[in-house]
Amino acid sequence: MWVPALLLLIIPVLLPPASTTDPDQPCPSEMNKVKDLLEVNCTGQTLSAVPPDLPADTGILLLSINRLTSLSTAAFLPLPQLQDLDLSHNGLVALRTGPLLPSLKELILSHNALEALPILQGLPVLTRLAVAHNSLEMLHAGAFQNVSQLKDLDLRGNQLRTLPQEAFAGLRALEDLDLSDNLLEELPKELLQDLQKLVTLWLSGNRLRTLPNEFFPEGHLFMYVFLTENPWHYVLNWSVIVWGCHSYFAFYAPTASV
Ligand SMILES: *[C@@H]1O[C@H](CO)[C@@H](O)[C@H](O)[C@H]1NC(C)=O
Ligand SMILES: *[C@@H]1O[C@H](CO)[C@@H](O)[C@H](O)[C@H]1NC(C)=O
Ligand SMILES: *[C@@H]1O[C@H](CO)[C@@H](O)[C@H](O)[C@H]1NC(C)=O
Repeated sequence: MWVPALLLLIIPVLLPPASTTDPDQPCPSEMNKVKDLLEVNCTGQTLSAVPPDLPADTGILLLSINRLTSLSTAAFLPLPQLQDLDLSHNGLVALRTGPLLPSLKELILSHNALEALPILQGLPVLTRLAVAHNSLEMLHAGAFQNVSQLKDLDLRGNQLRTLPQEAFAGLRALEDLDLSDNLLEELPKELLQDLQKLVTLWLSGNRLRTLPNEFFPEGHLFMYVFLTENPWHYVLNWSVIVWGCHSYFAFYAPTASV
């Protein structure tokens, strides 16, 4: 009688330890101690869909370097605590938003193939959006009107030629706007109208020859405006700009030609 009992005691010892790499769950997870969030790392798994059964308390989800070419934010509805989502380097061509992601603060879409952005919906606490190095040719008027908490918007390295005057309408919390390395030839005078908190504006590496008068709203506090690598047609009237902003500027002076 005691022999089978002993075997029962031994067998569990002989079994391999509980696996941390569940074959149905290819993504390792660990606590991110800095952010105090559960971080799930699905980087470089050749995934063509968001894996089901991710931990419900996922706070940071890394999905960089996969094959998520078309995606709806509905895929993240089972993750109500999701704050940071990295979808860079996926060849993403289509994105749909709408379903409520109540906690999402940071969305990284850089290094994809997006030609357009939808009018972003259902992301009420989004504070950082990066869509750098995609193929955006235009922005919709009011594209960001429903992500009014946005503080940091990175559109560097796209194909933007013009912008509608309401491109950034409603972005009253925006502090950092990066439009560098696009194909911008001119900008609408009212572009910065709602951006009362803007601190840093990157316009370097475009095709700007001039800026409209009163482009920088009067009474606005800017800290940094980067303007290098544009074919400026004439020296801008800096005094007007500086006077208009009642502030300190760190201009990277354009290579002026008359
Ligand atoms: C995520 O996983 C990839 C591939 O295993 C690894 O290279 C990367 O360092 C990980 N990232 C983090 C933040 O742990
Ligand atoms: C988007 O914003 C508009 C105006 O700011 C508002 O009327 C509308 O209800 C919002 N839509 C969603 C889905 O939040
Ligand atoms: C630049 O702006 C100042 C202040 O408004 C104005 O007095 C001056 O005439 C302008 N200079 C040129 C070259 O337009």
